[in-house]
Amino acid sequence: MNRRYRKTVIAGNWKMNKTAAEARTLIDELKPLIAKVKWCDIVLCVPFVDIPAAIKAAKGSKIAIGAQNVHFEKSGAYTGEISAEMLAGLGVKYVIIGHSERRQFFLETDDTVNKKVVSALEAGLRPIICVGESLEQRDQNVTLDQIRLQVKIALKGISAKELKKVIFAYEPIWAIGTGRTATCEQANEVCDNIRACLREIYGARAARSVTIQYGGSMNAKNAKDLLAQEDIDGGLIGGASLKANDFSQIIDAANQ
Ligand code: PGA
Repeated sequence: MNRRYRKTVIAGNWKMNKTAAEARTLIDELKPLIAKVKWCDIVLCVPFVDIPAAIKAAKGSKIAIGAQNVHFEKSGAYTGEISAEMLAGLGVKYVIIGHSERRQFFLETDDTVNKKVVSALEAGLRPIICVGESLEQRDQNVTLDQIRLQVKIALKGISAKELKKVIFAYEPIWAIGTGRTATCEQANEVCDNIRACLREIYGARAARSVTIQYGGSMNAKNAKDLLAQEDIDGGLIGGASLKANDFSQIIDAANQ
């Protein structure tokens, strides 16, 4: 973290978990636990159908609600899809774009990620853009090449002004849901490289103000050390965001 230049953001990614009623319960449990948090922004990215209940439950608290996906068109014949405008209309503030599970199971590409980023920004949503390498890519020593490619394509056509709204999440695919976390050095190296890539495109000032999260088996135990790294400005948390206690402990670590 380096709060001089950028915000710390802890975001939960519930994935396909929790009904609307369960969402309400978790947020009611979480609210008193985070009442005194000052130094970190808190986001919960919930399933689409939970959004209205989550927004209602989070009202008056520090918790902002995000979505986990968005379609890139404004409207039209795209059965089953949701537009950025629809999300913004409900009061959604953030949206995860290009999560590795979307890339893997729903065939999202760097190009569709870019289109989604453009449409999210147009609607006033803050995109959390996920990038990350597979184990094979890490073993072949092409991690940084892969990340640079993902970052550059995701930002095609995005201005320096718009970049201020963008958050990156570095999520090594081999660390997601596996209990295997990247070491602090590995995670910081990639986050530092994401920033270097932003510096090349947008200059030093713009690059240093972008929040870059780490995601992949982050939990109450390892959060403090990961967040102590200069270029890790928060976390995108799956499993450990499903319990109020676990999630609030990570938020506490980020609030130091
Ligand atoms: P995990 O998931 O914390 O359960 O590893 C992170 C993510 O997929 O965003």
